[in-house]
This record gives sequence, C-alpha cells and structure tokens, in this order.
Amino acid sequence: MNSIYFDHAATTPMHPAAIEAYVEAASAGPSNPSSLHAAGRAARERISAARDAIAELLGCSPAEIVFTGSGTESDNSALFGAARAQRERGRTGIVTTAVEHHAVLNACRRLEAEGFALTVLPVDKYGRVSLEDAETAIGDDTAVVSVMAGNNETGTLQPIAEIGELARRRKALMHVDAVQAFGYLPLNLRELPIDLLSVSAHKINGPQGVGLLYVRRGTPWLPLLHGGSQERSRRAGTENVAGIAAFAAAADVALKERASRWERAESVRAEALRQLSAQIGSGSFVVNGHPDDRLPHVLNVSFPGISSESMLMNLDLAGIAASGGSACNSGSLKPSHVLEAMNLPSDRIGSAVRFSFGLGNTIDQAEKMAKIIATISARYA
Ligand SMILES: Cc1ncc(COP(=O)(O)O)c(C=O)c1O
Repeated sequence: MNSIYFDHAATTPMHPAAIEAYVEAASAGPSNPSSLHAAGRAARERISAARDAIAELLGCSPAEIVFTGSGTESDNSALFGAARAQRERGRTGIVTTAVEHHAVLNACRRLEAEGFALTVLPVDKYGRVSLEDAETAIGDDTAVVSVMAGNNETGTLQPIAEIGELARRRKALMHVDAVQAFGYLPLNLRELPIDLLSVSAHKINGPQGVGLLYVRRGTPWLPLLHGGSQERSRRAGTENVAGIAAFAAAADVALKERASRWERAESVRAEALRQLSAQIGSGSFVVNGHPDDRLPHVLNVSFPGISSESMLMNLDLAGIAASGGSACNSGSLKPSHVLEAMNLPSDRIGSAVRFSFGLGNTIDQAEKMAKIIATISARYA
C-alpha cells in the first residue's frame, strides 16, 4: 500500500459516515426495493430518503434524480438520452469540448457515428473554452451541449453557467459533467441553466459503482437501459440500495463541509507547490491548468526531462500514489488528450504528473512528497 495517497481525482477513500450508512443498509437483510413485502418497502424507503437528501443539497426535486451505476453511465445516459430525444425534434447537432472525460467524448463520437454532427470546441493553453467559440457552435439545430464543470486532469473550470445560457437561447439541452466539481463548487440547480448533470459517488468519499444523473423536469430525454420500471422507468435494474444510502451520506458531508474541504485541499496543494519550489527550484517544474479558475484538489505538474512513467514509478516505489492523467489512461501510457488540446510542448505533456488531494491528506505529506521528488530529480539530473 502507498503511504501517501495523492490520487483523489481517480477515486477517494470512503468517509466513515458513508461506510456506516453502507454497512447499516447492507446488514438490513435481503431487500429488493421493487418487492411489495416489508423488507422491500424498507429498501424503497432508504432510497427515497437518500434521493430526498441529495435533491435538497442540489436544489432540485427528488423526482429529477436518477440513480445510476457510475459517472460514466450518467454521462452516457445524458448524452444518448438527450440526443436521441432531440433527434425526434429535428435537432442533430452535438457540441462538446476537447478536454472532456472519455465518458463524454467517446459517447459523443458514438453519436457522431450514428449521424449526429459533432463539434468539439478547442481550448486555450489553460484548458478553457471560449464563450465566442461556444456561441458560434451552438445553433438552432443543436440537440445537446456537454461541457464539464471542472477538469479531472488539470482542475480547470469551464464557464458552465454562461454556456448554459447560450444553449438555453438556442433551446439546446445543456449537460454538465460535475463528477470532479461536485462537493467543491456550489451547484444550485434552481439557479443554474443546466438540464442534465452527472455526479459519481466514489469521487466524493462515497462508494464505487454508484452515480446520479439529474434530469430537469420536462427535459426531452430517453432512457439508456430498458427493463423494469425502477427509477420511474428511467434506469432499469435493481438499485444498489446500500451504495445509494452511502452516496447520500457522503454527499451530505461533502456539501455541508464544502468550504472546509476546499480549504483543506487548497492548503495541501499550496504547500506542495511551495515545497517543490524550495526543494528543486521553481525552474524545474511547470504547473498545467488555469492558475486561478480551477478546482482546489488537482495539481498537474510537468517535470521536463523526467518522463511521467519514470516519475510515477519512482513515486510509487517511495510510497506515493499519483497519476499520469485520467485514471483510465494511466495504464495505457497514451499522451493526455487534455494536455494535447491545450497545445503544450511534447516534453511538458510527456512529463506531466497529476497529484490530487482530499480526505486524510496533510501538509506534512506535501512536504514529504517534495523531498522525495527532489531525490528522484537528482537521479535524472
Ligand atoms: C470528469 C469525470 N467524468 C466522468 C468520470 C467517470 O466516472 P466513473 O469513474 O464513476 O465512471 C470521471 C472519472 O474519473 C471523471 O473524472
């Protein structure tokens, strides 16, 4: 096991409150929420309580929440569901950005193969899309616009409220992948011009294998999974009762402690940067992503001259878990599509490492990491 876990954007440790809720629900005995008997009714009640709690936190109605099996499923359900429903209304355009997670990008490419016209918006050197580009791309034939709130590789924030307004003006649907931003950014769905929003439990100290899709009331949308009438026939399949109960517990903590969570992650990130400057000099590394408009828990740094793989391997040997980009890519050693879209030089892309912070991390760990990086850097000098 790594003694320092700096990979919270990949997955997070479960919060004790989420574990307690999970164990409580999982120990309650067999209970399918669709069953009519008492055990089934108890399971249904658990899901209902979780839905009410999360809806309250998001500022939406419980009926607008569809529980899914992951952030990936939420993204796919949003895109396929909205695009296919909109096609029936003569809208066949999809607008997204070059820095989306593959759960969005690959779903969009699949829709393109089905005949939708796909526009992938470019980003600047910080990974931000421009409102001008978005305005030009969104037209009267646009079915859905999908833009993430905060990037999983760099933390860079997108102007989702402004793009949502542009989408609304053209009567296109706005989907936001908030998988990394939920629990850090205030996301009040009563105020934001967003029709569909994806969240994943395991990024906010909840369990793996649970997500949610918010679908604004009245949104043209078709389900991805067909079968039983679970989730008001919007997502067939027996619900993950314990996972959903734990998701609600984690969401409750994450949103109630949003400010202190932000501060904690930001302080570890700031200390990591301070210590890196002190240990190896500020000329030996470069930070990727927006300097200000960003999430607090992601720090993407290039160490020119040391490949990402070498750095990650050395860090791992020293007990530090970090990542080379999005988790799904880190095994494949492919250059990051996000950093490529930012048009960074190849040595910067090839030497990028993502540290991501969260529950359990301390300032001391940031200092220790910088010292270990100084030792590793000396080997490659
Ligand atoms: C921005 C973003 N979207 C979607 C996902 C996919 O979520 P899940 O792992 O729950 O499928 C991730 C996971 O890394 C992510 O960071």
